[in-house]
Amino acid sequence: MVSETSPSLELDDIQAGALHERPSPYVGTYLLLRIRARADGRELVRWLHRIVAPATTPAGADETSVTVAFTHHGLEALGVPQSSLDSFAPEFREGMAARAQVLGDVGESAPEHWEEPLGTADVHVAVAVLSSDQAQLDAVTTRARAAYADLSGIDLVWRQDCYQLATGRTSLGFKDGIGQPAVEGSGRRGTDSSERPLKAGEVILGYPDETGDLPPMPTPEVLGRNGTYVVFRKLHTKVAAYRTYLRDRARSREEEDLLGAKMVGRWQSGAPLAITPDRDDPELGADPLRNNDFRFADDPRGFKCPMGAHARRANPRDALDREGGVNVRLHRMVRRSTSYGPMLREGVTEDDGVDRGIVFVFAGAHLKRQFEFVKTQWLNDGIFIGAPLEADPLVGVNGGSNSLTIPQRPIRRRLQDLPPFVVTRGGEYCFAPGLRALQWLADLDT
Ligand code: HEM
Repeated sequence: MVSETSPSLELDDIQAGALHERPSPYVGTYLLLRIRARADGRELVRWLHRIVAPATTPAGADETSVTVAFTHHGLEALGVPQSSLDSFAPEFREGMAARAQVLGDVGESAPEHWEEPLGTADVHVAVAVLSSDQAQLDAVTTRARAAYADLSGIDLVWRQDCYQLATGRTSLGFKDGIGQPAVEGSGRRGTDSSERPLKAGEVILGYPDETGDLPPMPTPEVLGRNGTYVVFRKLHTKVAAYRTYLRDRARSREEEDLLGAKMVGRWQSGAPLAITPDRDDPELGADPLRNNDFRFADDPRGFKCPMGAHARRANPRDALDREGGVNVRLHRMVRRSTSYGPMLREGVTEDDGVDRGIVFVFAGAHLKRQFEFVKTQWLNDGIFIGAPLEADPLVGVNGGSNSLTIPQRPIRRRLQDLPPFVVTRGGEYCFAPGLRALQWLADLDT
């Protein structure tokens, strides 16, 4: 296990949500707000500044946590000067909807089908409230509602309730949120013994990153420092279609589980195929000291975990070491995803028409070389795994004819005609400022 502390990370100025794992289980809600009147927008930020927890808060100390982030339109609505707006990353300035072609948000996932007002100029402020307790969550959201109801220039434009089950499992049945990098100076340990904590600048702006340089940071420094970019995407999952696909291809219930695991790279319990390729091991899946401690280099051809499996694509670990030139550490992702919608009852293969899936959340200093790189080069494109026509079986761009090669002896198996199981319902690129920056935004007098 790797641990690292560095006194230099200004934890008291960083939003806890950027660095802390969440309590488990939890309930939560995402609120998107529009600022119609600048003064009210600043009043809202002043209020949020008072309730956002810094990363110095000990884990679990706060039953309820609030994280706040802004879109480019939101910063503009608050009156951030143009020179400062122009200093943000180009992808953030464009917004997620404008990046749809690049990201593969096409067909059913295209912005014209997104939930209103996601992807439009009406989304300004994103607030995430998470709590281990429903009553506390209700109390904080009621207070929040009262705060913005008093401000006539603020509208609530979208809301999504979310939760994490005690099992950590999401709608397709798999435990999620296991593979996470540790961040130098955060005081939080990594769970992969061979992975050194990432340089803080990979996640928090204002510190050197893995290249040894400071990541490009928005100006003025008080606004950029200790902030991080945040991606959120509402991803609908077609659970009945997924179950039906597996049932139709498998000869037994056990084989259904195996094929599902081959798609993901882990069994539903979270146990990695790289450690237990033939059968699930729920004890391993539940053990945070062991369930992320594995590598792929001893499985170069993917007999244990296919190269095309979702988690192996998303984090190839040491599998690319031999290729030379690909530094996996430049493409690591801090994820804070969460479930929405009720789970489809075990065994049901009829679509009940209910919306369910995950709200995928990423935090990092580099939208392009972290989130966009992983989504486009590793999930949407098969070239790096040597199968150019294959996309990620869960979230790759897929017109209905995707496939997954499962290496096995004597002959490999290929899952063909994989339909899309995940549809993008919308999303935004946001910026989560540090606490001093929130104060600076509230005090703007432009
Ligand atoms: C509905 C959509 C998605 C589902 C159901 C899903 C599911 C999963 C599951 C079950 C795991 C294994 C558990 C774990 O290691 O945490 C995983 C890992 C991961 N996923 Fe996803 N995922 C989805 C979307 C995405 C997207 C859009 C990205 C990136 C653009 C992504 C990036 C990752 C990463 C980086 C890992 C960790 C890999 C590791 O460190 O081993 N996922 N996902």
